[in-house]
Amino acid sequence: MKDVRTAGQRKRVFIRTYGCQMNVYDSDRMADVLRPLGYALSDSPEQADLIVLNTCHIRERASEKVYSELGRLRDLKDERRRDGADLTIAVAGCVAQAEGEEIVRRQPAVDIVVGPQAYHRLPELLARAARKSAERHAGGRQPGAGVLDTEFPAESKFDHLPAPSEVRAGSAFLSIQEGCDKFCTFCVVPYTRGAEYSRPAESILREARTLVAAGAIELTLLGQNVNAYHGEAPDSSNVGPGAGSTWSLVGLISALAGIDGLVRIRYTTSHPRDMDDDLIAAHGEVPLLMPYLHLPVQSGSDRILEAMNRGHDRDHYRRLVDRLRGIQPDLALSSDFIVGFPGESDADFDDTMKLVGEIGFASAYTFKYSRRPGTPGAALGDQLAENIKTARLAALQSLLGKQQRDFNASKVGAIVPVLFAEAGRKPGQVLGKSPWLQSVYVEGGAEMVGNLVNVRLLAAYALSLAGEIVTNEPPFEVAA
Ligand code: 5AD
Ligand code: SF4
Repeated sequence: MKDVRTAGQRKRVFIRTYGCQMNVYDSDRMADVLRPLGYALSDSPEQADLIVLNTCHIRERASEKVYSELGRLRDLKDERRRDGADLTIAVAGCVAQAEGEEIVRRQPAVDIVVGPQAYHRLPELLARAARKSAERHAGGRQPGAGVLDTEFPAESKFDHLPAPSEVRAGSAFLSIQEGCDKFCTFCVVPYTRGAEYSRPAESILREARTLVAAGAIELTLLGQNVNAYHGEAPDSSNVGPGAGSTWSLVGLISALAGIDGLVRIRYTTSHPRDMDDDLIAAHGEVPLLMPYLHLPVQSGSDRILEAMNRGHDRDHYRRLVDRLRGIQPDLALSSDFIVGFPGESDADFDDTMKLVGEIGFASAYTFKYSRRPGTPGAALGDQLAENIKTARLAALQSLLGKQQRDFNASKVGAIVPVLFAEAGRKPGQVLGKSPWLQSVYVEGGAEMVGNLVNVRLLAAYALSLAGEIVTNEPPFEVAA
């Protein structure tokens, strides 16, 4: 974003985002909350008056990064103070939620700790932090370090956030559901993000219209269990007999599909247990719904799926995929996998490899099991050695990598609409996304960013495709 500060006029905030797309969305919304306080976005910590780390707690490595980053920021703060200035440091997101007290104890340079459900209260927290800092400067004793807000407030933050102000490159995230009640035994999300909550449809539609008016032609609906969505229906809706007063994800998608100017809808992340008939059917019926589905299975072993408390077995997953492909043969299927869950035997891992072989994925995210404090998985015996996890991860990645290359290669020769997102790595290249969420690059200039353009796919690689523009007449062009 352009920095519009003139000297002495505006403050700057630098927000570093770790983890998932929900955090990307939250970071943008924190920027929206801070803007009326005079904060413009900065792209470097060195230029900032306020630094927010929006953290991820899902795996150990993600959490550790936060503490090492905080060490660097403390040095920056010390330097600032030597120059007679100051720096405010805030920790947001899931590490803040899970380890709030510990963060302030381990790193007294932290001024604010704010959980993912409370960041609409940042203005108040900043004011409280400023008061504390003033007391400290007045020479009193250290009045205890940071200000903490990790409540799950009764009011929803969505009722208190300003309208989103910016859309990048024609594409926007839209959070529709948060939290999780599924309690997979490896996962911290039910503890850090709280109980499952579906945002009322009216508030989502309002935000969607604002985003489209601001230039979004693609919306990605976000939720930790997005397909469990069951938000309050708008008052004016005719939900039909028996539908009650809530909308499912399909109801919401159908309403969104009616917004003029919107051409692509995606949603993520889904749970196999919540993939109902209507949602499967929607993949054949709603042209705006992109032929891509991220549907994590985690493991191909029934024994491990049970130990993970996933609530489904591998046959359930296979049947779902068969039905989805029956309706939408062109579907790109993606998944998350965890290798080395406690007690995972060679035979269990073979079952995962077998399932992957049977299904054929277009892309996937693979993780070594990470023991997370407070989760039931952490207390299980038979935690696997690191070298076993490493070997299994490599084998799985090799198989999935081959499937991804094959999937990419199967699209060579096709002409497909690509939504251009950013400049490519090499000068003169621009990078975008195909309907199947593949990265596609072509020769072209920055003016293409935000446009949906027909591209002939020419060559496939492991993680991307090369193409050429077929026509200078884009199928849809964002108004300047
Ligand atoms: N260890 C490894 N991977 C995990 N995930 C969630 N918790 C853990 C953990 N403790 C992975 C799952 C999930 C994705 C977002 O992160 O695969 O789907
Ligand atoms: Fe975590 Fe399982 Fe909930 Fe997904 S469904 S957020 S993996 S507990």
